Amino acid sequence: MELNGLKVAVVGATGAVGNLMVKVLEERAFPVSRLTLLASARSIGKTLGFHGSEIAVEELVEDSFEGIQLALFSAGGGISKKFAPIAARAGAVVIDNSNAWRMDPKVPLVVPEVNPDAALSHSGIIANPNCSTIQMVVALKPIYDAVGIRRIVVTTFQAVSGTGKRAIEELRAQVLDVMQGREAVRQIYPHQIAFNCFPHIGPFLENGFSEEEMKMVNETRKVFEDAKIRICATTVRIPVIYGHSESINIETEKPVSPEEVRRLLDAAPGVRVIDDLSNAGYPVPLSAAGTDDTLVGRIRIDPSVENGLAMWVVADNIRKGAATNAVQIAELLLSRGRL
Ligand code: A2P
Repeated sequence: MELNGLKVAVVGATGAVGNLMVKVLEERAFPVSRLTLLASARSIGKTLGFHGSEIAVEELVEDSFEGIQLALFSAGGGISKKFAPIAARAGAVVIDNSNAWRMDPKVPLVVPEVNPDAALSHSGIIANPNCSTIQMVVALKPIYDAVGIRRIVVTTFQAVSGTGKRAIEELRAQVLDVMQGREAVRQIYPHQIAFNCFPHIGPFLENGFSEEEMKMVNETRKVFEDAKIRICATTVRIPVIYGHSESINIETEKPVSPEEVRRLLDAAPGVRVIDDLSNAGYPVPLSAAGTDDTLVGRIRIDPSVENGLAMWVVADNIRKGAATNAVQIAELLLSRGRL
């Protein structure tokens, strides 16, 4: 590490996640000696604030990574596929938020609270899991370690910010359209998202699941290093801007009580238990938005199976689900002397 910090690039800096990556680097006082902001040619002329100065956005090109030591990518899978290897060859460690590299056996898929050591085996690129996977594995890892988990059934309620900035604009515009008696204009989603929801995130695959659902299955197996864990996911888009919610049912290897699970989760890094039914105390997206914790509540026995547990897990999908997780991976590498 250089004395005054690292030369860092954020690719997709003008997007919902990229923008937040810049903010999170600042909030967490990540040591940055020079910040390069990269986006498409459309963004030339824009600036973003960082520690009190305005930094101009530059067009992403093959030469963008000269001298860069750390590159955080969030500009979509196509950009990551092409430019992450270019950045890595130029000497940067890439932390990629897209889907492009997650299942590559040579690329570690890392959630610092869950599998920090995996990050150390990288060869230039480290992947951030999908947002809905991150909050699920953060909440389940302490239970997995204590009593084992055989099976997970999860239904998600996902915010539009996961789709990007234009989807946030689409929801806002549709709400106005409907409230003012106009027909809602659809551009991004297959259905109107305002006052609606649909079980369709990413394209559908031959097995009848959506791509998002299979990401949750495959990425959880990779992060837990457990190819046998059985998982069934249903992923649903809902008209919320920030914060994914998940209804999770698990079957553990050994029995465990809700009280013990609360104790395990209370002691776990990055987790906050909110489980006080008498005061409507359970996590909601509006209380998760803007925070980095994974919130867990409604912890109860699932009586429909042996060793069954049910719970409700909420996190800010673009913070812990994306930007914060990426910066935490960088912090982990720094603390282990690997950056
Ligand atoms: P731009 O704003 O210039 O289009 P989101 O996920 O919120 O939609 O953001 C996507 C991010 O990826 C934006 O920063 C966007 O930049 C960037 N991006 C999209 N296409 C390209 C491209 N061809 N080259 C570089 N950056 C891109």
